This record gives sequence, C-alpha cells and structure tokens, in this order.
Amino acid sequence: MSEHLNSPKIKPRVTHFSSGPCAKRPGWSVTNLQNACVGRSHRSEDGRAKLAEVIERSKEILGVPADYRLGIVPASDTGAVEMALWSLLGQRPLDILAWENFGQEWVKDVVDELKLPDIRLMKAPYGSLPNLDEVDFSHDVVFLWNGTTSGVRVPNGDWIKDDRQGLTICDATSAVFAMDVPWDKLDVLTYSWQKVLGGEAQHGVLVLSPRAVERLESYQPAWPIPKLFRLTKKDKLIEGIFKGDTINTPSMLCVEDALDGLRWAESIGGLPGLIRRSEANLKAIADWVEQSNWADFLAEKPETRSCTSICLKIVDSWFTSLSPEEQAKCAKKVAKLLEKQEVAYDIAYYRAAPPGLRIWGGATVATEDIEALLPWLDWAYATVKAELTSVARCL
Ligand SMILES: Cc1ncc(COP(=O)(O)O)c(C=O)c1O
Repeated sequence: MSEHLNSPKIKPRVTHFSSGPCAKRPGWSVTNLQNACVGRSHRSEDGRAKLAEVIERSKEILGVPADYRLGIVPASDTGAVEMALWSLLGQRPLDILAWENFGQEWVKDVVDELKLPDIRLMKAPYGSLPNLDEVDFSHDVVFLWNGTTSGVRVPNGDWIKDDRQGLTICDATSAVFAMDVPWDKLDVLTYSWQKVLGGEAQHGVLVLSPRAVERLESYQPAWPIPKLFRLTKKDKLIEGIFKGDTINTPSMLCVEDALDGLRWAESIGGLPGLIRRSEANLKAIADWVEQSNWADFLAEKPETRSCTSICLKIVDSWFTSLSPEEQAKCAKKVAKLLEKQEVAYDIAYYRAAPPGLRIWGGATVATEDIEALLPWLDWAYATVKAELTSVARCL
C-alpha cells in the first residue's frame, strides 16, 4: 500500500452507507424496542393495534389517499411485488420497464414464470431510462420508481396517463419516504421497511388503488395463487389485510422497529423533512462530483439521479483503459479499503452494474457523514490507483 498519501483526519460519525438494509435513524437504540408486543399473539388486541398503527402512520406520512388500501404482507418488497404480479396480471397486455437489476428480476417473473403472452419489454442500459413516452397505458405497466442498483429514478409521474385503462404497478422500495410519489398515477405501490426509514427487514407493504381492488374482485388469473399471495376470498378483497390482520405471522419486533422509524419520521417534519434530508445528501455528493476528476454519476441525466441509492462511476482515463476485470478489481478494492479503515461499509457497486461505488443517501443518513466521507473517497481511489500502478510497473 502506498505510504505517501495522507488520509483525511475526520471520519463519518456513522459509517453505514449500505443500500439495504440501510442505516438506522439517528439516535436509534435497541432499547427503543422494549415496548414490542413480543411473546404475544399478533391477533391479540394489543398485537393488532400495533399493526394497525403502522398502517395508519404510514398512510399519514406518505399522504396515501383515503380510498387506497395499505397492507403489511409477507416476504419484504419481493413478496409485495410478486403478490401484485401474480394476482393482477394477465387480463391485459403488459409493458414492463427494466433499466437495472431489480426491474430485470420482475421481467423474469412475467416472462419465465407467469409466461404472459403479450409483453412489451422496454429496456435501457445502466445509467439511463427507457423512453417513458412510448409506454402504452391501455396496457398494464410494471416499473420501478427508483432503480436501486443504477441510481436512476423516474423524474416524476407526468408521463403516466390519468385516463389509463391498464394498471400501473410500481416497485418503490428505495423511493418512498425520500421522494414524492403521485398517488393518483399509481394503482399498486410496494416497498419494504429496511430502506429509507432504516427499519428491520422481512415485511413488505402493498398499497392498492380502488382500480386495483376492482381488478382483484373482477378478474381471476389462469394460474394458481398460493395462500401467501391471496388477496381475495370469494371474489372479494380480504379487507382485514389492510387493517392489520396479516396473512401469516409477522415479527412484532420488526413491527415495533417500523413504528420507531415512523415516529422519528414524524419528529423531523414528516415526508417533506425526509425528502429534505435525502436531497441534501444528493446535493453534497453532486457538489463533490462537480469538482472530481475521477468520479461521475452513473445516472446520465441530472433529473434522474437518485437521492437514495447514489451510484457513481469512475471516469478517470487510467481506470477506463483497464480491462473490465481490472476495473472491477479496482472499484472493489476502493470499497474494501474504506471498510478496512472503518470509514464506510457496503459501498461497493452492485455486482451486475458497471464498476464504481454506491452510497446510500436516504433520510437516515446525516449529510455531515456524507460530507466527511467524500475526502475519503478521493484518498481511497488515489491510494488504490497508486498501488495498482506500482504493481503493474513491477510486472
Ligand atoms: C428496487 C428493489 N426492488 C426489490 C428489492 C428486493 O427487496 P426485498 O429484499 O425487500 O425483497 C430491492 C432490494 O434492494 C430493491 O432495491
């Protein structure tokens, strides 16, 4: 390792920058969970009250319209998305958008598993979005609000038609609580707890518009629906799911932690406060990128840059002249070095994305910590570059 590069003096106070599970909220302690309804039935009055409280507080903070349903479902965001795909698709043609790994996962579901006959796959490479103007809203539409592995988000919902005939199904797990989502444009929205509010993982959240409910009550897919995904009984929505009667047993410890995150969100000004914190993190990184001679956003257009999963690519000509394997090795070494220095954990790029770094900027991350991290990124890159250059010279 090169000795001559002086490391910055200040380290981030909190060094958790993972894109999921994400940093706990400032001041979090396990003692905040002492009122958890553990060892009790989730169907008891107390258990149900906790679950209902999560539902009510979530709806309130997110501004979910009164006629939309919000329910806690099994298997995290994946469970919530697959429940929607399995329960709703097949009645109409489908436009599915994919511009990074998770969008691709949902493509596999509809192509390989559900084997839908009439699909338009709208793909874009890492860094960009498919052409949103080409989406046909007489079809059902599946898309992500924020691509966690490329750091590319849709800029807004203006491209979604108000008079659509199909349903819009949106995986918004790394967007909600950090970005404004226009509820009138969305028929199904899903997320999990371990992202922007830093909750414990395992449970998913499914939000349904009245149009989505109407589809559920009037359409029966051709394939079997396992109990875990079942949202209707005798062609009627199981309303209890949206009041706290979960399909199967939830963790009451996770429920308490979700409540802790929601209360914190309220204490910092609700959704506007959360968005402000996350956007400030993006701004701190954008200011640094502006003067950086080696890093840039993976997102090509500024209006598509995510404020949560902030993905950077390396543009230094020394780096770009390396082979793909060497680039991957170099980017991983930068992340590893910062971990070893106890400066930043889990900021390596997603394995299928172009080599670079991914820094979580959701609301639980303090901007001071991002600011403290940035000089370390310069130091780590310069250190790794010097090391790899000297190794190459010796060969
Ligand atoms: C956009 C997106 N969809 C789905 C998932 C999977 O989420 P979960 O692990 O909550 O099922 C993730 C996880 O990072 C994600 O970022």
